[in-house]
Amino acid sequence: MKARATTGARFAVSSGVSLLSRGLWGLVAVGGLLWVAYIAVFYGGRALLGDWWAWNAILRNLHREGEVAANLGIGVHLAAGALITLIGPLQLLPSIRAAAPAIHRALGRIYVFAALAAGIGGSLFILLRGTLGGAPMSLGFGLYGALVTGAAILTLRYARRRDLQRHRRWAIRLFALGVGSLLYRVEYSLWALFTGMAGHDDETWRGGIDLVMDFFFYVPTLAVAELYLRLPPTDARPPWLRGGLVVALALGGLLGAVGLALATIAWWWPPVEAVLFAPS
Ligand code: HEM
Repeated sequence: MKARATTGARFAVSSGVSLLSRGLWGLVAVGGLLWVAYIAVFYGGRALLGDWWAWNAILRNLHREGEVAANLGIGVHLAAGALITLIGPLQLLPSIRAAAPAIHRALGRIYVFAALAAGIGGSLFILLRGTLGGAPMSLGFGLYGALVTGAAILTLRYARRRDLQRHRRWAIRLFALGVGSLLYRVEYSLWALFTGMAGHDDETWRGGIDLVMDFFFYVPTLAVAELYLRLPPTDARPPWLRGGLVVALALGGLLGAVGLALATIAWWWPPVEAVLFAPS
């Protein structure tokens, strides 16, 4: 009787973990679509209208007349970043890998080259123009660019060598890095909700929280990816770990959903609305 109860509870927790993981996947996919819609309509729309100056509405240093290489660098990084954000969640789907490996490989190549383009384009911008937050932000974003570029190269190398174990590990690290740019805005939105943006300096981007965020948008996701890669197989997980996973996934999902809603309402919709409904 007791053994059946334990098996039942174990099953309930395991299916809870898989349900929550699917939920989190869905949240990242929807979040990515909203983020890419913002990039496409605001940055893409303004570019199509030839209104490059409007790129400075969110971050005042994104476009400077005559500085072609830096302008091109950030432009390429935006387009490539949007591709990474859209393709990333699809590459994680076992169903696509099993049913259509050719599609997984084709999307994988686009994903890896987009990661290289975002990393190199963003780094070129940092080297030629520097970031709004000065040296600390340039260091944080520069390291981010180097990690994205390195993980992309290793993901492709091990796929080519048919070393699928290592390919999978680097692909998971690349995905964790890829969602970093989305999390940057989601985390700032949650910080605004809970603290009213305490420690943020809108002029210098060198307030206490800004210095933390220069690295915090990708270091914890990499740490989560490393933890995930070291998780024991499902049936070898002790009860405390199963329970902990349910709590972590549920909390992550809840905070993620709230942060995403806030980032969409406060950060992404207004510039999109201005492009879509601007008086002609
Ligand atoms: C992974 C996908 C990425 C996406 C979707 C993305 C998207 C964006 C967007 C939309 C902005 C403009 C700010 C805003 O409107 O909120 C931005 C700014 C920026 N991104 Fe990325 N990015 C990505 C990856 C990277 C990488 C890998 C680097 C590193 C080299 C990077 C470096 C920068 C820099 C330097 C800025 C400008 C900061 C400033 O104004 O000083 N991004 N990014």
